[in-house]
Amino acid sequence: MSSSDTSGSDVSVPIARVVLVAATAALGGFLFGFDTAVINGAVSAIGEQFATGPVLQGFAVSSALIGCAIGAWFAGRIADRFGRIRVMVIAAILFIASSIGCGLAFGVWDLSFWRMVGGLGVGAASVIAPAYIAEVSPPAYRGRLGSLQQMAIVTGIFVALLTDAAIVGAAGASTTVWLLGLEAWRWMFLSEIIPAVIYGVLALTIPESPRYLIARGQIARAKEVLTRYVGGNVEKTTTDIIKTVEGKPDRPRFSILRGSKFGLLPIVWVGIGLSVLQQFTGINVIFYYSSTLWQAVGFTEQDSLTITVITSVTNIVTTIVAIMLIDRVGRKPLLLVGAMGQFVCLAVLAIIFAAAPIVDGEPVLQGAAGPIALIAANLYVVFFGASWGPVVWVLLGEMFSNRIRAVALSVAAAAQWAANFVISTTFPSLAAVGLGLAYGIYTFFAFVAIFFVIRFVRETNGRTLESMVDSGAPTPAKG
Ligand code: GLC
Repeated sequence: MSSSDTSGSDVSVPIARVVLVAATAALGGFLFGFDTAVINGAVSAIGEQFATGPVLQGFAVSSALIGCAIGAWFAGRIADRFGRIRVMVIAAILFIASSIGCGLAFGVWDLSFWRMVGGLGVGAASVIAPAYIAEVSPPAYRGRLGSLQQMAIVTGIFVALLTDAAIVGAAGASTTVWLLGLEAWRWMFLSEIIPAVIYGVLALTIPESPRYLIARGQIARAKEVLTRYVGGNVEKTTTDIIKTVEGKPDRPRFSILRGSKFGLLPIVWVGIGLSVLQQFTGINVIFYYSSTLWQAVGFTEQDSLTITVITSVTNIVTTIVAIMLIDRVGRKPLLLVGAMGQFVCLAVLAIIFAAAPIVDGEPVLQGAAGPIALIAANLYVVFFGASWGPVVWVLLGEMFSNRIRAVALSVAAAAQWAANFVISTTFPSLAAVGLGLAYGIYTFFAFVAIFFVIRFVRETNGRTLESMVDSGAPTPAKG
């Protein structure tokens, strides 16, 4: 297969070549998923070993999210100044340091510190993969290639789950028993060194982004990369990129995001809105607190692990659906259908839990309510996985102009991590009041998301990165 010509082209590129490059960058997504999920298996062992209560245990989990927001915030500026590849290598080093630090931690404080260091890596990877993939992709394939990031994230979550289960299996009943000279739970963190090293080494084998190279005045090198990976009319693309990076400050600054109204450029607000809404519909509550949900539905702890595995596989499979559709139907229809589906599923969950009688402080689902809740939660993951999961990352990578992309993406991703932090730290208190309340709030945000997409999201399908403007005014959807 060859990349299709979108601008009267001369160069045709074998798509496998760019898939390889995009997949390497997407490995950052794998570490993102793995790192955020691996703690689940270790958290109770950490509590036992360091004799800490739920508050400090919660801190060990959420400290990573603070690191993610900080890492995302700085990644764009570092990427604009020192290059996309360097950010990937820095992220890989942070992952390696964090997994050694966590694996050999003396107590909950240094463990939390090293979790935060890993978070810096996750945040950086969450910014650099979408930006880089969009910048090396032929326009006609950009959605599919960008979705590889989400594919990698959900695969990372799944592999972390399996790794934790395998370590528990090898160690027997408890993760504080000794395994190969260390307590078993430590291997959960140490296992991350392998993908982190692979990511760092492979990042050194892929080309620097042509958009970055042109912004740094390295035109000849940029043309080589465009010829080898992007294809199309290389001369025209080069001229167009040069035009779009004109006036870009030498040292990247947040001031380029400033707009006359509302403080920031409208398009940056749209990015922030997409990010926050992706989180505020509660996806990570399903992943981080799955056992609370499944046990409320009436399953045992063991069943609940099996269902978590099923949910995780569902998420992987539905990402394939998004990959098949994103460059055909476009981003906006996927977001719209996804938000509507999520809304219905969340509303069902909210109603079921609000109506459930409480026995000993726990909701009891009777009759068909349990199975319906189970189906609604998994259908919710289907709708999310085929839409907001991948599409938000793809859009964040492509919706900004070359001039502001890295910095704007940083701000939107940092907002996403902050939103993730808010949702995951408030869930236990909301759930204590009632799961109906928690799911009611997420339902409300799914409702908001429907209108947000209709009003503010601009279709990017099939357009070149050079045609993205910073105004953010909605334009009619294409295709
Ligand atoms: C998206 C979200 C991330 C979530 C994942 C689950 O990547 O950004 O927060 O964990 O989807 O599928």
